[in-house]
Amino acid sequence: MEIKAATGDISKIKAGAIVVNHFEGVKRPEGDTAAVDKALDGAISELIKQGDIKGKLNEITLLHSMGRLPASRIVVTGLGKKKELTTNKVRGAVAETCRYLRGKGVTSVATIVQGGGTNEIKNNDAVQAVTEGALLGLYAFRRHITKKENNFGEIKEFTIVGREKRLIEKAIERGKILAEAAKWARDMVNEPSNFMTPSNMAEAARQLAKKYGLKVEVFEKEKMKELGMGGLLGVSQGSQQPPRFIILSYKGSDSDDIDIALVGKGITFDSGGIDIKPSDSMEDMKGDMAGGASVMATLMALAQLKPKINVTALVPATENMPSGTAMKPGDIITALNGKTIEVINTDAEGRLILSDALSYAKKLGAKAIVDVATLTGACHVALGSVCSGAFTNNQELADKVIAAGNETGELMWQLPMYDEYKEQLKSDVADIKNIGSRWGGAITGGKFLEEFIDKIPWVHLDIAGTYETDKEKGYLVKGATGVPVRTLINLILTMAKQ
Ligand code: BES
Ligand code: ZN
Ligand code: ZN
Repeated sequence: MEIKAATGDISKIKAGAIVVNHFEGVKRPEGDTAAVDKALDGAISELIKQGDIKGKLNEITLLHSMGRLPASRIVVTGLGKKKELTTNKVRGAVAETCRYLRGKGVTSVATIVQGGGTNEIKNNDAVQAVTEGALLGLYAFRRHITKKENNFGEIKEFTIVGREKRLIEKAIERGKILAEAAKWARDMVNEPSNFMTPSNMAEAARQLAKKYGLKVEVFEKEKMKELGMGGLLGVSQGSQQPPRFIILSYKGSDSDDIDIALVGKGITFDSGGIDIKPSDSMEDMKGDMAGGASVMATLMALAQLKPKINVTALVPATENMPSGTAMKPGDIITALNGKTIEVINTDAEGRLILSDALSYAKKLGAKAIVDVATLTGACHVALGSVCSGAFTNNQELADKVIAAGNETGELMWQLPMYDEYKEQLKSDVADIKNIGSRWGGAITGGKFLEEFIDKIPWVHLDIAGTYETDKEKGYLVKGATGVPVRTLINLILTMAKQ
């Protein structure tokens, strides 16, 4: 889909459909909607009067121009109550409108700068949200569907009509970079494990590096042994697929410091290992590398946005499989930092591979660390699918991450990290064991990871409940969500400015 900027009156634009809007509780069309209403001899006013158009959020009303306008169709999208409008609602409403029009077979769409000027939403932020909404909402993962003639339309041209062309173009560009990064992560996560092995992940990193000028390094088994990555090696030993440790770096500042390391869980399939999972929904575990994909996608966007900051992404990648060579409950492994871990449950594998990656980030001298992982079903139970869990040893950094998420609509909720939770991880035979009791599992997961961080400012994001969705809603479609790619980009852009 090509996204273009245009200036002038939207009612003069020739397209398959033009999109204007209406707010809930407003009696007559306003602004651009009023101009279109006039050209339609008051048809929109009439529909408002009769109660057909209420302006409720995501309400879609289709009118045909019958030759009164150059465009064939007019859509009035409801944006809800004016006072409650946010850029995130704009993103969702645009996404739903685009999907609706695609379903009608429309191939070219023009819209106004939805939400610009309302509630102090800046025009460039509104344009960015419109762009992201269109791209994310129209996302579909169809690479493995061979039947092409199944009425799946495509909007080929999308025009945003406003006042200043240059400003619109710049905001489109930014929205495109963010949305394309999130879509790239969605593709990685939606890809099944036979197409997304640890080696495939490493290859994807190499391709990103080549295309966008990032630095890439990939460790294989030998190097992992040399370094002592006992967590990653232990989890991988049951699989036929060799593990990979991926390091992707973006250098935007002159210093040699790593301002922030982004660590992502890269389990390309989590069967549970010897503590095998029930078969129900096991297929979802192809997405257990969503954290890894999200940090790689973040670097892809940074390479294009070029903030003055240095960021390194670390992704330990492996399958977690049962076999004769697999790790067994009770086994003791040694992580990169020398700590010994008693593996009580082989299904708590994410923290084992992350222990090496976090230790490695520390070894590299990272000044701050954010890790992203589909770590615990318990986090999903605690927070549902509305927000990700956030855990920290540094409130200032956590506040920045959560604020960045509020702006992108990728919500996060902080959970406590009281030391009392750590007591559950005491082992009789090793320095620590890999699970606690049944209760508070998301937090004991966080406490486990903290053992490999020490004092470095750190935030752990548990995305087990948010990495995928089974419902189409707003800019999310069934499957991978791309969480928290746009938040990480937003966070780093803000950090670079400080
Ligand atoms: N990958 C899972 C967590 C998960 C569950 C992610 C559902 C997304 C959706 C993780 O490796 C796991 O299996 N965790 C266990 C931990 C337990 C053994 C302490 C869990 O959540 O049950
Ligand atoms: Zn697991
Ligand atoms: Zn897992």
